[in-house]
Amino acid sequence: MNIGIIGIGYWGPNIVRNFATNPRVDNIVCADLREEALQKIKGVFPAVEITTDVDAVLTNPELDIIAVVTPVDTHYDLALKALQNGKHVLIEKPMTTTSEQAEKLIALADANKLSLHVDHTFIYTGAVRKMRDIIQSGELGAIRYYDSVRVNLGLFQHDINVIWDLAPHDISIMSYLLEEKPISVQATGARTPESDVEYVGYLTLNFASGVIAHFHANWLSPVKLRQTLIGGTSKMIVYDDNEPSEKIKVYDKGIEVTSREGAYKQMIQYRTGDMWAPKLDNLEALSFEINHFLDCIEKGIPSDTDGRAGLDVVRVLEASSRSIQENGKPIPIG
Ligand SMILES: NC(=O)c1ccc[n+]([C@@H]2O[C@H](COP(=O)([O-])OP(=O)(O)OC[C@H]3O[C@@H](n4cnc5c(N)ncnc54)[C@H](O)[C@@H]3O)[C@@H](O)[C@H]2O)c1
Repeated sequence: MNIGIIGIGYWGPNIVRNFATNPRVDNIVCADLREEALQKIKGVFPAVEITTDVDAVLTNPELDIIAVVTPVDTHYDLALKALQNGKHVLIEKPMTTTSEQAEKLIALADANKLSLHVDHTFIYTGAVRKMRDIIQSGELGAIRYYDSVRVNLGLFQHDINVIWDLAPHDISIMSYLLEEKPISVQATGARTPESDVEYVGYLTLNFASGVIAHFHANWLSPVKLRQTLIGGTSKMIVYDDNEPSEKIKVYDKGIEVTSREGAYKQMIQYRTGDMWAPKLDNLEALSFEINHFLDCIEKGIPSDTDGRAGLDVVRVLEASSRSIQENGKPIPIG
């Protein structure tokens, strides 16, 4: 397979490295508008070709796959042109700036039998895949809530707010773990007086079953926190991505609520059992992900994070922006 990679900024070199070290990949062409970014990647991977002519890469008949690793507002145009030229596409998160754009890319990929893969990297970590196994085994019981924090002293983006920047990770993880889809979103956030975008955001997703999910994203935290709590009726998970090895802990804790006949008050009994930390696969997520993407292209099947998974995330983000504008009003999704 021959790969074109567009956008060699902060994240692009990780995509280049993981394609370059994959034995199924033959040639790589890197494109960026900045010559210095190209010279830098050439210094690390002398075998890659480099060019500032992005159009020539999108239309190059030798290339099978185009990876779009540029800022969000450029994703749609670049991916559209790649698909129109018969390329399979890997597109960064969040997939597009509107759900309409995402729908158009999905339709075009489907019509031309091309793979459209969204880089929701966390789905390919050992931790997230283990949590899915645990949840699907029924060990947690029925899910009651999902609560996630992703904060640090982050790079302020100019074009997107903190929810569009950080929450795609958590929304995609939640969508992969929970079978039920959210029906509405409430969001609030704050901006600095000088900026047009929120640096802190709180997002609540409501589900028809009564389950609730909450996300907290912040570029202005003095410490880096990456924590998720998933509460089930039988057990609960604490996922801490900052932990070097024991990223997941499963707690056998919970409550039993009983109401005796004739008694008006409910009785709550607390259960505190063992905690265990499952062993996790340590393979680099992007390496696993790229192999999975190449498998899906070969077999003609959708990847675990295909265009539809990307669209689901964009729909939540879009509704969150509307909710912020309307002071936290619940906005239906989709
Ligand atoms: N999956 C992840 O974990 C992850 C992590 C970080 C960033 N990202 C995503 O990757 C994308 C890029 O983020 P980044 O942090 O690397 O941004 P960045 O600003 O560091 O790099 C973007 C690069 O794209 C180039 N570029 C911009 N417009 C271009 C165009 N039209 N044609 C060619 N090159 C162009 C810029 O010159 C720059 O080198 C974003 O969508 C971001 O959300 C994903």
